[in-house]
Amino acid sequence: MTVPILRLHDGNTIPQIGLGTWPLNDEQAAPAVVAAIEAGYRHIDTAYRYGNERGVGQGIRDSGISRADLFVTTKLDGAFQGEDRAIAGLDESLRRLGLDYVDLLLIHWPLPQRDQYVSTWKTFEQLISAGKTRSIGVSNFKPAHIKRLLAEATLRPTVNQIQLNPCITRPDERSYGEAHEIVTVAWSPLGRGTDLLGNPTLAGIAAKYDKTPAQVVLRWHIEIGVVAIPKSANRDRIAQNIDIFDFTLTDEEVAAITALDTGADPGVDSDTMGH
Ligand SMILES: NC(=O)c1ccc[n+]([C@@H]2O[C@H](COP(=O)([O-])OP(=O)(O)OC[C@H]3O[C@@H](n4cnc5c(N)ncnc54)[C@H](OP(=O)(O)O)[C@@H]3O)[C@@H](O)[C@H]2O)c1
Repeated sequence: MTVPILRLHDGNTIPQIGLGTWPLNDEQAAPAVVAAIEAGYRHIDTAYRYGNERGVGQGIRDSGISRADLFVTTKLDGAFQGEDRAIAGLDESLRRLGLDYVDLLLIHWPLPQRDQYVSTWKTFEQLISAGKTRSIGVSNFKPAHIKRLLAEATLRPTVNQIQLNPCITRPDERSYGEAHEIVTVAWSPLGRGTDLLGNPTLAGIAAKYDKTPAQVVLRWHIEIGVVAIPKSANRDRIAQNIDIFDFTLTDEEVAAITALDTGADPGVDSDTMGH
């Protein structure tokens, strides 16, 4: 089983499937990370706000994997936005993770009402030179927010991590990303909290390939060229979610799954804010 690797515009690479870790706590995250690495994952997604970076770091150490073989993402909390504050924010994440560097550091939310994301981004640029992160990117940014970074800062984000699944396919954000060589990373790739996985279209395609609806959805993410970070704390589902590289969807199947888009942008609500 080989997980495809996407190239970032800064020359680094990102595995197209990663393990999501929200809402696991430290005790739950460590064994989930071990199970994921044993199943072949080489990409783990966490955030300061999740409160589980210690558990993620413990899982990495428990797995015995070489640090260089792993891609670790964390996200800067809103509390650390503003000029230079990201230095302390990333230092705290690294301390909790027990790592010298992360592969990818994201601004978790633009928080445009605070208007600090540009100065935060300029500090991110310094954190690359300091060797504390290999790549930098954003999360939950609209194209308008990214446009400001392009106009006012030096480096372009390598990724934008956004909510994306067959119910919310975000064609505008994806094409903006493609036009600017910004990789789209899908959070809630399985549509957590919706009845997506019970959809009959997915059930039909899953039966054809002897796969589960979740595997069909994750394969769809691969086919449309985004990175997906499904969360599971269950060893079997963790393994299932990466066992998607022995089948491909037809163009018609990809189109039928994309057509499940409900057209409703759920926006940002206070429950998901910060995850
Ligand atoms: N940047 C952001 O603002 C942001 C926001 C939200 C999430 N995220 C990141 O994205 C990751 C994934 O998103 P998410 O956790 O919201 O949603 P998700 O990955 O779409 O769905 C997770 C849910 O699906 C279940 N599940 C996993 N695999 C399954 C399978 N094969 N079959 C059936 N059910 C399955 C999980 O339960 P079990 O654990 O019981 O398997 C869990 O309840 C998060 O963990 C986090 O790392 C980022």
